[in-house]
Amino acid sequence: MCGIVGYIGRRHALPIILDGLKRLEYRGYDSSGVAIITDKGLSIKRKKGKINDLIHHIEHESINGTTGLGHTRWATHGKPSDENAHPHRAGDVVVVHNGIIENYTELRALLQEKGHHFKSETDTEIIAHLVEDHLKSGASFEDAVLASVRQLRGSFALGVLSVRNPDRLIAVREASPLVIGFGNNETIFASDMPAILPYTNRMLFMLDGTIAVITADEVRLMDFNGAALPVHPKQFDISPAMAEKGGYKHFMQKEIFEQPQAITDTLRDRLLFDTRDIDLKDAGIDHKLVHALKRINFVACGTSYHAGLTGKYIIEEMTGIPVDVEVASEFRYRTPLVSTDTLTVAISQSGETADTLAAIRLAKKNGSRVLSICNVIDSTLARESDHVLYTHAGPEISVASTKAFTSQLVSIYLLAIHIGRSLGRLSKQQAASFFDTLVAIPALLDTLLKQEDRIIAIAKQYAKHRDFLYLGRGISYPVALEGALKLKEISYIHAEGYPAGEIKHGPIALVNEDMPVVFVAVQGRVYEKIKNNMEEVKARDGRIISFTNADNAGIRDLSDELFVLPAIDELFTPILSIVPLQLLAYHIAVMNGTDVDQPKNLAKSVTVE
Ligand code: AGP
Repeated sequence: MCGIVGYIGRRHALPIILDGLKRLEYRGYDSSGVAIITDKGLSIKRKKGKINDLIHHIEHESINGTTGLGHTRWATHGKPSDENAHPHRAGDVVVVHNGIIENYTELRALLQEKGHHFKSETDTEIIAHLVEDHLKSGASFEDAVLASVRQLRGSFALGVLSVRNPDRLIAVREASPLVIGFGNNETIFASDMPAILPYTNRMLFMLDGTIAVITADEVRLMDFNGAALPVHPKQFDISPAMAEKGGYKHFMQKEIFEQPQAITDTLRDRLLFDTRDIDLKDAGIDHKLVHALKRINFVACGTSYHAGLTGKYIIEEMTGIPVDVEVASEFRYRTPLVSTDTLTVAISQSGETADTLAAIRLAKKNGSRVLSICNVIDSTLARESDHVLYTHAGPEISVASTKAFTSQLVSIYLLAIHIGRSLGRLSKQQAASFFDTLVAIPALLDTLLKQEDRIIAIAKQYAKHRDFLYLGRGISYPVALEGALKLKEISYIHAEGYPAGEIKHGPIALVNEDMPVVFVAVQGRVYEKIKNNMEEVKARDGRIISFTNADNAGIRDLSDELFVLPAIDELFTPILSIVPLQLLAYHIAVMNGTDVDQPKNLAKSVTVE
């Protein structure tokens, strides 16, 4: 999604804004632009393509000024082009925007009647014209922005500047994230923390329906009626290095290798070593809540949805509570059967995914309590939930989610063991044994990650294939879905995940010697069944790549390639088996030369519907 950076202070704004935009590149974008108030007037530069294309475009110009706005655009209204790139200008007013203005057609017609002319196909440009229109009628800059936002419908994070008011910037938030950083004689605001971290750790996440009037030394907050709000920035314990590549070729590779640490951090403070029990006090999941539960309902998108699907197997097994799992974009437009005895569990790395937010709002409206499993402290999802179980994966920059997924799984294990114990469904001994398994996972992952070379060898053999099938059964079925998603999103190779028992009902028609079939075949209740499915694929000349913890002659004979996973209780296998699939997708993408961290058409944080 689009990225916004605004700077006002004593230093040159341009390099700070460009650096901030680069740090937001992971959000996904197709063009970028800057607006700086210079001593010679306003300078606006916009370019389709990457930020480096913009930098190249302006490298011989001197654009000096201490106040400015920057933007990376992910096209919604109007194709990616120089003209549609932000910032957009009307007279003295400049606007950058993340989100969608739903009533822009009406507003545009209204403004056209008043004699305004538009140069782009975007919804954003109308905002600049609205503010200009109010300024022309004599309103102050602040009042003009206030009056304009009250006319907008949709989701919008805005940065606004007025050349006639060069001592201030205005930021607006309504359903799209914005964070303000409080530096020394400088203030920087952005769509996400990485753009701010090199300058300050004192930050404030703006709330929906608020406006910030920002100078170098002061921030004033108000609601859309103009009523003043308190300003309480917080200190965040995150370093800029956590959002850098640290010697790895891509963020994705770094984040895959950070998984043992991310899991350790997510477990920390929730494990009671004396009693081998789980403590979820931080999420407020107490005895009373657990005993009132009749149903758990996961809502999420993409990879987080796959964590929810895996969660169904884990929670039903450990607690006996029925679990539903639904993609948030479907849930939000149904009449869902949730009520006061349902716990809706929203899973989201970013905590800003528009569909997931809409789903929890609907669930709450129907009386359900909401627990979120979320990686971003103070994100909208976290704030709107009754309970939050934070994953502590650290900033995830690569568009392809990896360490967030395994940290989400860890949170689900913690939740399931905690509920299972509270309900007496798990004996003390069973819970203690699961506790020991959780503690052992980071070391097992370390061993697994040391076998990256084996994955590279497999990737070399199959990188040029254009279609893959990923198959799993039981708890490995969501792993197959997630493995296929990883491959398609970063390598653009068609990959389909399927429950292995279903292939004879259709997909087996595709199998031939050109179709690599990835099997996730772990020991447990469906192991013999999935071996039968391997036989079916083999009989049709399919090429089999097996990821298994059952290293025996039978499975070796069936497999063209075999990767051996460490042995672990069947319920915990997904947290290990997904990791080589992440590496396989990563290396195939690298071998195909794609933009691994920012794949085409994708955005890290999907803040629009
Ligand atoms: C994962 O690799 C994806 N890029 C995507 O499916 C992602 O998981 C989805 O958009 C949900 O994001 P969230 O976890 O931030 O809500």
